[in-house]
Amino acid sequence: MAAVLMLVMLCGLRAAWADTPANCSWGQVAGVWEFHVGPGGYDRRLRCSSFTAVESFKATLLFPDVVMDKDGNKGFWTMIYNQGFEMVINQRKYFAFSSYVKEDDVVTSMCNATFPGWSHDILGQDWACYYGLQVTRGVPDVDPVTTRLVHKDDYERKFRNNHDFVKGINSVQRSWKAVTYPESHGMKLSNMASIAGGSSSALTYPQPTPMDEATKIAIKHLPKNFDWRNINGQNFVSDVKDQGNVCGSCYAQATAITLESRLRLMTNNTLKTTMSPQDVVSCSEYSQGCLGGFPYLTAKYAQDFGMVEERCNPYHGHSTPCMPYRADCRRYYVEDYHYIGGFYGACNEGLMMLEMVKNGPIPVSFQVYDDFRQYHSGIYHHTGLKDGWNPWKVTDHVVTLVGYGIDPTSGEKYWIAQNTWGADWGELGYFRIRRGTNEVNIESIAVAITPIVPNP
Ligand SMILES: *[C@@H]1O[C@H](CO)[C@@H](O)[C@H](O)[C@H]1NC(C)=O
Ligand SMILES: *[C@@H]1O[C@H](CO)[C@@H](O)[C@H](O)[C@H]1NC(C)=O
Ligand SMILES: *[C@@H]1O[C@H](CO)[C@@H](O)[C@H](O)[C@H]1NC(C)=O
Repeated sequence: MAAVLMLVMLCGLRAAWADTPANCSWGQVAGVWEFHVGPGGYDRRLRCSSFTAVESFKATLLFPDVVMDKDGNKGFWTMIYNQGFEMVINQRKYFAFSSYVKEDDVVTSMCNATFPGWSHDILGQDWACYYGLQVTRGVPDVDPVTTRLVHKDDYERKFRNNHDFVKGINSVQRSWKAVTYPESHGMKLSNMASIAGGSSSALTYPQPTPMDEATKIAIKHLPKNFDWRNINGQNFVSDVKDQGNVCGSCYAQATAITLESRLRLMTNNTLKTTMSPQDVVSCSEYSQGCLGGFPYLTAKYAQDFGMVEERCNPYHGHSTPCMPYRADCRRYYVEDYHYIGGFYGACNEGLMMLEMVKNGPIPVSFQVYDDFRQYHSGIYHHTGLKDGWNPWKVTDHVVTLVGYGIDPTSGEKYWIAQNTWGADWGELGYFRIRRGTNEVNIESIAVAITPIVPNP
């Protein structure tokens, strides 16, 4: 339980270090690109850290999610948060992280170039490495984005429960209750100095797209209250997990919970498997181990490489090297993954509700403020109060939405989310949060993932 505080700080961390420090926006990436591709014919074990390009092609990334080559062939592209972009054109998928340079603690994003990335045909059989260079930008220039990484000294202090802060939260509103959790013994905030920190990344979250008429009509037919933990008495959601206190693996945990729960509902609860987040943390090159990652790219990992079961690579919560491939470990694959709405920036409450009821739980990212850590029960919204004692920085976190509802007394709408801080936190490991107002950006980056039910 003491783990809770550290987790909050560890788990998303994409603000400054986590994930990669690149901070690229749609506007900086859209435009004409030249993609330089290495030799093809490899399988998925291909390493792309260094390679020689043997061919190149030009393509234009257009509004809002269309990519077009010089012959007029069209495909799809999306930003992945501020980290890079994925594109699908001419029967091939391409993904690479955006480039950046780091000098001391200042990072300059080079959104006009990518690091080496991975390309493969849509069946995943023919792999090649590639990188991209932007030729012309699609939208007018803005200054290069620099990010100052937060200095270690801020984190040399020990965390101490701030009872006044908790009292404050409970006195300014009645929607949710705050509580102090036991402190971690001797825990220093510096433990995560290398990864935690950075300022709010609020502006990197797009606003939800307004609901169109079809969505407004469709959601009228949905139940007012919906919970995958109780569908006519059946629970389709896998058990609450505890990600431990030193690893920002929330993105892998939430993706695992989503896949497990969706497999349960696709098989009427006959396939109750537990996936291994450790395998993602240790093996996926599409994420940064314990330093962070994204459900979108974890689902991509599951599509390209498959996820193994927990017992194959049990969770220990450190970025350990990837274990050699074991033939006796069944791999679970994903048929499809996409941002709800189609691409990053197209999400909204209605589309999330429709996806939830039709297809199952969904992973979401959101901003964690210091008051969230103290959540005990009720419908969370950010109070704006600050924990004056602890040098808190806003970070990001990933959890799994499993339902939604309306409070019968207050009429307040909420999402139901499973957290990964153990069953002692919040409402038996869950929390509820305001719905329909993009509270702490929770309605801006939801992902739909469709697993493949394996043959028995
Ligand atoms: C790419 O962007 C960086 C930083 O904004 C800039 O210094 C560089 O000149 C750009 N490169 C090209 C080829 O446009
Ligand atoms: C990322 O860039 C946006 C502008 O595109 C800026 O508002 C935001 O603060 C930046 N985030 C970080 C963590 O630097
Ligand atoms: C699903 O499982 C429940 C509980 O075991 C059972 O009552 C129900 O008939 C099953 N539904 C189908 C479609 O098999």
